[in-house]
Amino acid sequence: MKVRTAVIPAAGLGTRFLPVTKLVPKELLPILDKPMLQYVVEEAAEAGIERVIVVTSRGKESIAAYFQAMPDLEERLADSGATALAAKVRAAAEIAQVSFVIQEQPLGLGHAVLTAEEAVAGEPFVVILPDDIIAHSPGVVAQMLVVHENTGGGVVAVEPMPWERVHNYGVVDATPVDDRVHQIHGLVEKPSRREAPSNLTIVGRYILPPEIFDDLRRTPPGTNGEIQLTDALVLLLEHHELYAYEFLGTRYDGGTPLGLLRASLEFGLAREDTRQEVLALLKTLQPE
Ligand code: G1P
Repeated sequence: MKVRTAVIPAAGLGTRFLPVTKLVPKELLPILDKPMLQYVVEEAAEAGIERVIVVTSRGKESIAAYFQAMPDLEERLADSGATALAAKVRAAAEIAQVSFVIQEQPLGLGHAVLTAEEAVAGEPFVVILPDDIIAHSPGVVAQMLVVHENTGGGVVAVEPMPWERVHNYGVVDATPVDDRVHQIHGLVEKPSRREAPSNLTIVGRYILPPEIFDDLRRTPPGTNGEIQLTDALVLLLEHHELYAYEFLGTRYDGGTPLGLLRASLEFGLAREDTRQEVLALLKTLQPE
């Protein structure tokens, strides 16, 4: 069955970005001129995803507003000759069909995904964590769909991590089966360094069968007392094959102010319209 749906959990409090997240959802913080969330919706659309379900929480209504058309603003821009800008404004509303579900309680990533069950409607789907911004063409979702088609199994994006940082992530126990592809035998959420089965850490992209919802329902609270997606994947393994895919691309941690700053600088260097100015800026900042 074609994968045509993406679930994007965006219900978190964004505590690492306080105080700005008092009022602005973390997912709307920009890399240059575009919200983080738009980068991942574009990555999904580029991979052929047609429907995007964003899981939000109360107080984050501006996320939904962002994906609505703003005809007045577009008209004003077009009238003043700023057609390129008008097109940028229109783009967010046209990338994909974006809908929203509310997670009423902050019970964890697994619970956020479970909240989208009805909207997913029994199809295989992609989960994209908007904190994990990955620059590459083709995007990581498109790369993973190829692995899904070749193996027929679920797919989790992973990257090798220096051992001293492994405890911050979900970690897979897996054996290589193909170029960049490993078959998963086990997973652990945020293990201590001693307990980590490998240094292949989960990055926020998953292709999952709809059966994961039954597994999420029988997943007890785990790390931090939250219902963890990683724990549900352990249950999924009992009846589904799961592959880890070492993606091509650079991952930026949009979940922290410094990670977002790094992404902004590197995207600024990569973009033709900003490259020269960012280079000049970096030069002026360099100590003699
Ligand atoms: C979540 C997942 C974790 C994964 C990480 C990737 O953790 O639970 O398995 O490695 O995203 O960003 P969080 O960063 O929400 O604590």
